[in-house]
Amino acid sequence: MHAFTYYAPTRLCFGQGVCSSLGEEVRKYGNRVLLVYGGGSIKRTGIYQKVMEQLHGTTVWELSGVEPNPKIGTVRRGVEMCKKDHVEVVLAVGGGSAMDCAKAICAGALYDGDPWELVLNSSKVTGALPLITVVTMAATGSEFDAGGVISNPDTNEKMGLVSPKLWPKASFIDPVFTYSVPRSQVVAGSCDILSHYMEQYFTTGVNLIGEGFLESEMKAVMYYTPVALKEPENFEARAHLSWAATLGCNRMASLGCDPSVFVCHAIEHELSAFYDITHGIGLAIITPRVMRYILNEKSVSRVAQFARNVMGVKATGNAMEDARAGIAALRELFLSWGVPEGLSALNIGEEHFKDMAAHACAHNPLDRAFVPLTESDVIAILKDSL
Ligand code: NZQ
Ligand code: ZN
Repeated sequence: MHAFTYYAPTRLCFGQGVCSSLGEEVRKYGNRVLLVYGGGSIKRTGIYQKVMEQLHGTTVWELSGVEPNPKIGTVRRGVEMCKKDHVEVVLAVGGGSAMDCAKAICAGALYDGDPWELVLNSSKVTGALPLITVVTMAATGSEFDAGGVISNPDTNEKMGLVSPKLWPKASFIDPVFTYSVPRSQVVAGSCDILSHYMEQYFTTGVNLIGEGFLESEMKAVMYYTPVALKEPENFEARAHLSWAATLGCNRMASLGCDPSVFVCHAIEHELSAFYDITHGIGLAIITPRVMRYILNEKSVSRVAQFARNVMGVKATGNAMEDARAGIAALRELFLSWGVPEGLSALNIGEEHFKDMAAHACAHNPLDRAFVPLTESDVIAILKDSL
């Protein structure tokens, strides 16, 4: 077990009706509020109304239209509003995109230069406005981590902004708010949650506590996703997916384990950067291909264990056979949820693969991954994912 220091300073309010204390929490940080949300789902579902009812006694400015894969231009608009109107607290209501955009706005509001400079170099973040989140879909875990991912369409880059200043002060997670998430986004969200745990699982050494945590989270997501797809208002299913999402991306599940590199995320962010695709769907397409590619003498026992303990593959006595069966089962599972067969179905060809691979390797320690990868490996994986 490795030494670690962990500090997660976010108040988590989880369960049906938790937003009844949202207003009180917001007012702790100020009365001048920037409300950040996406393309309008919160108005259609009534969540906007519930949030506004909580904000009496405050002045609210609204930044709407945050796009999936939030763009730096939207962050800039939010930063300008914060500076001009002396915003004291930012409230994000939505999925990962609204939350991530809000995080970059919080940091940008206290920075003199262009916020894209912060995305390129997170160490420039020296402060941030307080952020509160209300989560409307189970996916990224942005509500309980210190990172956000922002895209720049001018440079075809999608990059993470990570700083201890970016932990939300409080996050409100009401699983009922996720009842209205469209089927395709439920699938994408679950694939993303699964990936966060898988990325931490596929490493050289996972201690027993981490291993149990990661395996049971993965199994819960696999069990409850079809339930949520069939019965959108099944509270237990939505609650399990929401809680699994919240715990997934902050590395709490793998404390004391060998460090892991988020390989599939590094590759997927390139796909989203160039083609603006849905993060979870990109992950689901490439993950079984990455697993197949890295399967070798060194990785086989871990992949075989995943196959047996998570995918329910019956042990054959031959680890390589078990591992292959586990990868095939994972792919079948994703297909059964409606994930496309490959990138071609998303109109993606190989024309940018070289640039994507170079960028992925330049900005992520893929050479220190469980099975180290080079640019040519990344290109091969992308080609195999077509
Ligand atoms: O924009 P609106 O109208 O709100 O609609 C959204 C959007 O179209 C809709 N939606 C969300 N909640 C809903 C709902 N529709 C109906 N009812 C509801 N209750 O769902 C669509 C997708 O929303 P989005 O926020 O884009 O999804 P997600 O939560 O998957 O976030 C994806 C973004 O987060 C980044 C991804 O790369 C991507 O940019 N990630 C952030 C991470 C983090 N901060 O830690 C880690 C992740 O690995 C990921 O990279
Ligand atoms: Zn993710």
